Amino acid sequence: MQLTLRHTCLAALVAVGVGCTEKDQTPATVTVEDNQAAEQAATTATAAMEEKAIESGVDYHSYANMQDYRVQHIALDLDVNFDNKSISGTATLDIDALNDSGKPLLLDTRALSINAVDGLDGPQTAALKFNMGKKDDHLGTPLSIDLAGQKKIRISYSTAPEASGVQWLTPEQTAGKKHPFLFTQAQAIHARSFVPLQDSPKARITYSATIRTPKDLLAVMSANNDPKTEKDGEYQFEMPQKVPSYLIALAVGDLEFKAMGERTGVYAEPSVLEAAAKEFEDTEAMLIETEKVYGPYRWDRYDLLILPPSFPFGGMENPRLSFITPTVIAGDKSLTALIAHELAHSWSGNLVTNASWRDLWLNEGFTTYLTNRIMQLIYGDDRYRMEMALGYEDLKSDMADLPDSAEIMAIDLRGKDPDAVFSNVPYEKGSLFLYELENTIGRDNFDKFLRSYFDHFAFQSITTEDFLAYVESTLIAQYPDKLSKERFEQWIFQPGLLADAPKPQSPAFDNVDKHRNGWLEGKQELAAIDISKWTSHEWKYFLNGMPETLSQEQMAALDGAFNLTQAGNNEVAHSWLMLVVKNDYQPGFERVHSFLTSIGRNKFLRPLYRALKENGKLELAREIFNEAKVGYHPLSVKVNSAILYPEQ
Ligand code: BES
Ligand code: ZN
Repeated sequence: MQLTLRHTCLAALVAVGVGCTEKDQTPATVTVEDNQAAEQAATTATAAMEEKAIESGVDYHSYANMQDYRVQHIALDLDVNFDNKSISGTATLDIDALNDSGKPLLLDTRALSINAVDGLDGPQTAALKFNMGKKDDHLGTPLSIDLAGQKKIRISYSTAPEASGVQWLTPEQTAGKKHPFLFTQAQAIHARSFVPLQDSPKARITYSATIRTPKDLLAVMSANNDPKTEKDGEYQFEMPQKVPSYLIALAVGDLEFKAMGERTGVYAEPSVLEAAAKEFEDTEAMLIETEKVYGPYRWDRYDLLILPPSFPFGGMENPRLSFITPTVIAGDKSLTALIAHELAHSWSGNLVTNASWRDLWLNEGFTTYLTNRIMQLIYGDDRYRMEMALGYEDLKSDMADLPDSAEIMAIDLRGKDPDAVFSNVPYEKGSLFLYELENTIGRDNFDKFLRSYFDHFAFQSITTEDFLAYVESTLIAQYPDKLSKERFEQWIFQPGLLADAPKPQSPAFDNVDKHRNGWLEGKQELAAIDISKWTSHEWKYFLNGMPETLSQEQMAALDGAFNLTQAGNNEVAHSWLMLVVKNDYQPGFERVHSFLTSIGRNKFLRPLYRALKENGKLELAREIFNEAKVGYHPLSVKVNSAILYPEQ
């Protein structure tokens, strides 16, 4: 399948007189002069785009006019106020004009109050005219600033309590129960809810920040955290390397630091610190081993921040400081692939970045592939094979439910909310594709390629087409007998899996299959299965491989033999609770309730709420959700209310 790349000038925009030049890359453009007409255009733009070909490199999720201006540096000066749940202060932007059109600067915002915009170029500050465009449900509100030739501007603003990228936690929602906590989560398009900026992964910036907090709390950022920092209520940060906007991150709480190695450590609430440092003690080794294969770690320190359980993801690769859910502190290092994954993003994602959310597979597919490799280096072959096989199963089960259009790695997200379209496809299909390449040309050769790919595109944001052009002149040219551009395009632009795509094998799981099938066929006693060496991987595979329906007797037998309703490992608990819901196994429902009200990780919430709904338990699901949602992150609230209240 060929992707047609042609320039699209939206008819709707032209009709209302909004310029569209060969260079124009903005999906919906507003101008100060003609704001109303442009608002109208923005509304109709989504519909018009549906029919047009996708333009590579266009960020359909940003209003910023990046073809006219590039923000180079952002200096933040912010107060964190827990009483009114607001971050307020100033963002000072250094701006490069790319042409002399003198157009207004368009920035992304969402639920921000903009109080003033000043130009700082001259000896005196000059108030600049600015204008808010029409709010779009997915994209937020464009802020248009008449720059009047200014290259340094200061925006005074404050965030709303419901800012989509910020979660404010009460003391009760933390481990210590004494202090409030705040964290931001900018990926994919939520940085705009706490900083007015060009919110696009192709707009790379350096940043600095002064953050003021209550005196007894520590602030940390995706920047140069100093492990020796004392709590005093005012903190300075520098991020001297160019990062995309979605990697700006801040957290504030009763945090302490513990070193794990020379370059690695953990920030966590005091009561979690020891357990976290123990669980993740292999982080330093992961860092060292990854460098050996993929080139130097270029970000100075690599620390982890352990969030309270409402963190909506497993992890987030904020540079120098990955944000991590506490739900992976299992006590046996069984879920440390998450750390390998966030660390791997220091190469695939943070160093070489997807240019738009359509290109997410370049971040997540490469990272998932690297994750498996790191797991093999640290924990050996069995673990490597199990991690890969579980990923493959996740992909298969996602694809059983997804429409064809969502099975395409370079997914068309125009007019869609990236949060709502999240799936395993960019992760696991992307990783499987790289696994095929590795198998085809040999591991050493493929590692060499990856290493030079990271070097070649270091600190750049690239599109799927940039990647294709690069492999054409490197890998494909080098191995013309083994590789073809057609095959690359099939993987990237076709739904589903190719008939001869690799299928990862795990001998450990073959053994699990044998026992599960034996039991289902009545040939194997549960008590006779040797589970003494099973880790959460075998358990997850054992449970996920159960048939759609089990009888009450079968459910009770499993629970009786293995005490699954009380499983402490969250991955295992989740797999079991999915069976509980699908089979209406009453003794497990109290645990469904306690699980959903104590964890905010959306990967667990979404399938459970969906299963409840699909199994005639919508009322119960709504009850639990309404009880739990005060504790959920705005993203988890949004995604799960769309499941439970689709009409709203
Ligand atoms: N960068 C992602 C999280 C993300 C992706 C946030 C897209 C918003 C939009 C992070 O690195 C990630 O993939 N987390 C996974 C880790 C897992 C695959 C090991 C998660 O949170 O479950
Ligand atoms: Zn990731």
